[in-house]
Amino acid sequence: MPQSTDLPAWRTLSEHFKTIAPRHMRDMFADDPGRFDAFSIRLGDLLFDYSKNRITRETIDALVRLAEEAGLREKIDAMFRGERINVTENRAVLHVALRNRANRPILVDGKDVMPDVNRVLERMRRFSQSVRTGEWRGATGKAITDVVNIGIGGSDLGPKMVVKALLPYADPRLRAHFVSNVDESDLIEILRPLNPETTLFVVASKTFTTQETMTNGRSARAWFLERIPDETAIARHFVAISTNRTKVAEFGIDPRNMFEFWDWVGGRYSLWSAIGLPIALSIGMDRFEEMLEGAHFVDEHFRTAPFERNIPLLMGLLGIWYINFFGAQSHAVLPYDQYLEDLPAYLQQADMESNGKTVDVEGRPVAYSTGPVIFGQPGTNGQHAFYQLLHQGSMLVPCDFLAAAESHHPLAEHHDILISNFLAQTEALMRGRTTEEARQDIASENLSAERLEMLAAAKTFPGNKPTNSFLYRRLDPHTLGMLIALYEHKIFTQGAIWYINSFDQMGVELGKQLARTILAELLGDGPIGTHDASTNGLIRYFKSLR
Ligand code: F6P
Repeated sequence: MPQSTDLPAWRTLSEHFKTIAPRHMRDMFADDPGRFDAFSIRLGDLLFDYSKNRITRETIDALVRLAEEAGLREKIDAMFRGERINVTENRAVLHVALRNRANRPILVDGKDVMPDVNRVLERMRRFSQSVRTGEWRGATGKAITDVVNIGIGGSDLGPKMVVKALLPYADPRLRAHFVSNVDESDLIEILRPLNPETTLFVVASKTFTTQETMTNGRSARAWFLERIPDETAIARHFVAISTNRTKVAEFGIDPRNMFEFWDWVGGRYSLWSAIGLPIALSIGMDRFEEMLEGAHFVDEHFRTAPFERNIPLLMGLLGIWYINFFGAQSHAVLPYDQYLEDLPAYLQQADMESNGKTVDVEGRPVAYSTGPVIFGQPGTNGQHAFYQLLHQGSMLVPCDFLAAAESHHPLAEHHDILISNFLAQTEALMRGRTTEEARQDIASENLSAERLEMLAAAKTFPGNKPTNSFLYRRLDPHTLGMLIALYEHKIFTQGAIWYINSFDQMGVELGKQLARTILAELLGDGPIGTHDASTNGLIRYFKSLR
């Protein structure tokens, strides 16, 4: 299979770039009154406006051709069919099966996975219901008031992000907490106010071998047993979520208290599986399933919509346009919604662990840039922190803006102020301000000609900065499911075009291996000398301080 740069559409786009690069979006809007209609798509009540991008109809045609030539149609179908598209780990990639609400059979090695998916969903329903109603009691007979999820990466970021995003739907009697960092301060601060009699620990790890999670899990167990010295009480206060029954039993959690998922669920795509148990505990299983329905709605859109009207596909293609032709290296995610505070962190793992790759699926080095640095903060906080660089810095940073039309808590004019900022930022990033406009702005200030020119230059904004806007009625479970699935399929689209495996994460292994060696050195008394001079020096200095 040829790499993307060898495809005819890539060459077309390289040529086309030369005609687009000098053009300003201001002029594109002025020249085409139908631009918003042409470059926006409604899906349910979600509006995806991509008209503030450096594109024309020819750009989209060429990008869509690139997707076709890269075999996107076949690649999408292969994922949904359950083929082993994660070639290095020889696994299927089936987070779409976890929310396959149509219950269409999906086969892995000839076996339909849907009965297993539905069975675990049913167990999650029964368990979350019994905890939420108080039927499930702790060892001393009290109802559960606090759930502590212990996990890291995909076993933490997804449920944590969603629980926060859907707090308005949460049962206030059941608080959710998330411990991920092996830094003991994380665990200690979360446990400090908790009562072991009313606390339920959810130890979440796909492999059940992850150092951080096992260490935190053991310490949580010790904390619990110090206060309730009864091994049999563990069964009422510890449940596990994993694919690895043997390791769960070895850890000391009764496998009957284990919620299962499967190797065809990638960690960073797992919040739809039993890994979502803290979500179900927080908002209830009906709401959890509404989120699955939202994601399924987007799955069907991704699978069936024509490429030129396919939102996640266009999101992916626009990213490729900026990364590979304009040289962009980052992408900002800017939710104008405090409840989506953790979305950028969640998408950092989803995107950067998936597409931070430089060999293709055949093991050849790729000759082009791949996944961007993802960052962001909720608006309007980011405006007062890093937006300066977005507006006037030397880098091109494409941005996604997201907001709901309705607030969960209407309060005076807060929400309208919030949304006016969203709209103003996308307008300013697109329009910029010419030097002439800047001059007029300060003309009445009675400045010397020299100072006026100096200030006008500083107040000039180049504009022409691309943004996508996502606007929807309300951040409810269905909409959140849609948004997450849109990003998942965007990532898929980009990985497929870059011809990389978006579903392994070999790059995080080396550090894990080296940490094991270094830990033995930190704990032991032997001489330190097997590393480079810097690492040796740091280890020795660390030991000298203790
Ligand atoms: O180290 C990276 C990683 O493997 C992620 O991909 C994963 O989400 C995380 O660690 C946690 O893994 P586990 O769920 O197996 O504990």
